[in-house]
Amino acid sequence: MKITNLDFMNGSPEKKKIPDPCTMIIFGASGDLTARMLIPSLFKLYSDKLLPENFSVTGFSRKEMDSGTFRELMKKSVKEHSEEEFDETTWNKFEKNLHYFIADYKNPELYKKLLTEIELIESSNNTGGNRILYMAVPPDSIFEIVTNIGKSGLNKQVSDRSWTRIILEKPFGHDLESALKLNKNVSRCFSEKQIYRIDHYLGKESVQNILVTRFANGIFEPLWNRNYIDHIEITSSESIGIENRGGYYDCSGALRDMVQNHLLQLLGYIAMEPPSTFDSNSIRDESLKVFQSLRPVREEEVSKVVIRGQYVNSKIRGEKVIGYREEKGVAANSRTETYVALQLFIDNWRWGGVPFYIRTGKRLPTRVTEIVIHFKATPHHLFKSSKDIPDSYNMLVIRIQPDEGLLLKFAMKVPESDFKIQNVSMDFHYSDVTAESLPAAYEKLLLDCMLGDQTLFIRADAVEACWRYIQPILNAWKKDPGIVVYGYPAGTWGPECADDLIAGKEFMWRYPCKNLANDHNYCEL
Ligand code: BG6
Repeated sequence: MKITNLDFMNGSPEKKKIPDPCTMIIFGASGDLTARMLIPSLFKLYSDKLLPENFSVTGFSRKEMDSGTFRELMKKSVKEHSEEEFDETTWNKFEKNLHYFIADYKNPELYKKLLTEIELIESSNNTGGNRILYMAVPPDSIFEIVTNIGKSGLNKQVSDRSWTRIILEKPFGHDLESALKLNKNVSRCFSEKQIYRIDHYLGKESVQNILVTRFANGIFEPLWNRNYIDHIEITSSESIGIENRGGYYDCSGALRDMVQNHLLQLLGYIAMEPPSTFDSNSIRDESLKVFQSLRPVREEEVSKVVIRGQYVNSKIRGEKVIGYREEKGVAANSRTETYVALQLFIDNWRWGGVPFYIRTGKRLPTRVTEIVIHFKATPHHLFKSSKDIPDSYNMLVIRIQPDEGLLLKFAMKVPESDFKIQNVSMDFHYSDVTAESLPAAYEKLLLDCMLGDQTLFIRADAVEACWRYIQPILNAWKKDPGIVVYGYPAGTWGPECADDLIAGKEFMWRYPCKNLANDHNYCEL
């Protein structure tokens, strides 16, 4: 589709809000997240003049280094991970705001020292006592850190006009029980208004656009229900394997790593009722209702409605690719799933009887996240007498990444034919209307936290509701070793039996590209 009206992006530039002066204190500052995501995002915000003038970052970690070395490391990482050309002059100004302290988070005494250091930075940088505490640490350390923060008083508001917020990274617990415990512990030191749980999927521009597609257009919403929609697919496939995260991933698996959080959040946006106002609580209330309406999975039906798989070695474009069990940090007999596909239902008025299919996996043929709305066929097939009728169901594909945009498929008469019908596409790509790359998720979320906007952050009740849905699946997998883990060759679309989830329908999963592996010996592990 050719977009001719460039007003879309080129109208008068929106005046962006600049947050209050503040300081960000990163726990786990020597880790990957800080180097790959946080500092590059902060630097981008700084370069775009979206950070307050008085701003500082204080890194806190056990690794021995001084602020100078920390700045050097961060500079190297920004050069490596930023898509923009590196601007040395801007960096030199930005890096003056970076500070680093060596400290063992297990030692409560050090928090008092840290507090003193932060107060000094706050007064020299004039940050008004506003603080963001960022937990870029392994999940099992959070409880201890939060307890120490509480004891040291670092969680307290410095004055009536200042604020203190905490950002938590996923995973928010390992199962329902640990999630409840984590929420309880964090809530001892912070109120829900201070807690910002990051799910980076909600920071993606194309995910926020789901709400606009649905609620700013009159044409979709009247059809957005069980009367017109046959089923909905949510796919998030990745071509990468688990990279160097074997230790974490082997204790997690695709269900915890992707479905419990990112993909259920997408479901929340796709399935929610229209919120009455566009504010953080209305929106989060509506997605919570979706999670609370998920039909509980009975443990005895898990093997039928949830398919799990694990990639095995294969060749992709002639290159040998190792199997999951050969990855570093993974047990040789691991049954952790690197692929999961499931069918679910939302038991409410809008969605009664409409199946939703979710699938995600590592080492699939391509990286794509998309939501496919499959509309029902017309009630009467007027053109069925014509031979060779192609599938004429309407389909709306919401492309989350890459190539963000929307694709609508509909039937047209083949010109000059005898009412022969073919499906055509109306295809909107964000890249057609802007040369700028879309803002990265972390930039959006960090800025929103500084601005005090919790809309795109996950509330405790939503985390718990999602775990409540996931828990019976985990229980069944744990209890019943008879539930198969299907091996699938790296570079293919996962276990073939995932197709059976949609069996009986005239549909298949949408396959955005073909298998890449040349070997198709699916097996049971
Ligand atoms: C992370 C998961 O939360 O999301 C990773 O831990 C996964 O395993 C990543 O690769 C996917 O994010 P994105 O933005 O690349 O789709």
